[in-house]
Amino acid sequence: MTTRTAKQVIVMRKDLGMRKGKMIAQGAHASLKVLRDAGTLDEAAGTFTITTWPALAAWLGGRFTKVCVSVDSEAALDAIVEKARAANVPCALIVDAGQTEFRGVPTKTCCAVGPAWLEDVDAITGELPLLEAETVVRSLAIAMHSQSEIILPLLQLKEFDQYTTTHSTNVSVLAMALGEHLGFSGRELRVLGVSGLLHDLGKVKIPREILVKPGGFTDEEFAIMKAHPKEGAKLILERDVRLEVPAVVAYEHHIMLNGGGYPSFHFVRDTHYASRLVHVCDVYDALCTNRPYRDAWSSEKALAYLEEKSGTDFDPVFSVPFIKLMQQRSVQRLSVEDAEVSPTGGGE
Ligand SMILES: [Fe+2]
Repeated sequence: MTTRTAKQVIVMRKDLGMRKGKMIAQGAHASLKVLRDAGTLDEAAGTFTITTWPALAAWLGGRFTKVCVSVDSEAALDAIVEKARAANVPCALIVDAGQTEFRGVPTKTCCAVGPAWLEDVDAITGELPLLEAETVVRSLAIAMHSQSEIILPLLQLKEFDQYTTTHSTNVSVLAMALGEHLGFSGRELRVLGVSGLLHDLGKVKIPREILVKPGGFTDEEFAIMKAHPKEGAKLILERDVRLEVPAVVAYEHHIMLNGGGYPSFHFVRDTHYASRLVHVCDVYDALCTNRPYRDAWSSEKALAYLEEKSGTDFDPVFSVPFIKLMQQRSVQRLSVEDAEVSPTGGGE
């Protein structure tokens, strides 16, 4: 039995400003059209037979990834359709003439690329921005505005340490990108996004002179630094008990797969999957950033490190697809070249 992943991507025109409900209908229509194109109608017998090539069979069997991405114009949508057809990847284009939205004028609204094997679909749509990510970012913004308890400590952290604030934003984006790559739901992506954003919140409890100290720590200072996971978890739960997973991630993000790291235990602790996922993104972003004691590593060098430590420090369930994702696509990270930096190394 194949273990390859079937994927379908719905490419939606963002410039039309369609209502969310309309977009959902268009996406469903595009999915159905792929099936129609894959079938044969026998009018005499009154039957419709769907051809089941392997990727379609996997997709129909429920073993698939499906995401929505966006383009900004009809020309961009046409280009995707052409690219898919040239690559022999199934592609269904939807032309809608709805009276409410388009006043009867036929309008190309979206297309479905695939189902086909994940890598074949990614080669066509992998560079397009995720529609879901926009929703996630909007949800984050709304969540942060509606929960001043969360935004205030983050602002406090920003005043304290620009590096940690920028790093937290990067980890949030990387965690959501990896979650999306793995086919996580919108709800799970939101949890990962918030977890990445808040994972180092406990640093607001670290005295500023330690946080920004340019050089090595004394044992006593390092002990204080090592308290930030516990302090972060406490801060998050004190503010909102519904942020249970972000609190767990804050507590566990320095625990390695083999039980190393901190907080330390007398036994290997089973950590939450979100903690293991954020740990990979956390270390990658830290290594790729300039620090007072070392230059930023290249992405290749950081990924080689993740590979070397997969199975000991990092859970391969997350580090292996992360490496693949970063090699396939360039996920934009914010830079802290000019920002004030704090002194400790990889994966703080
Ligand atoms: Fe940390």
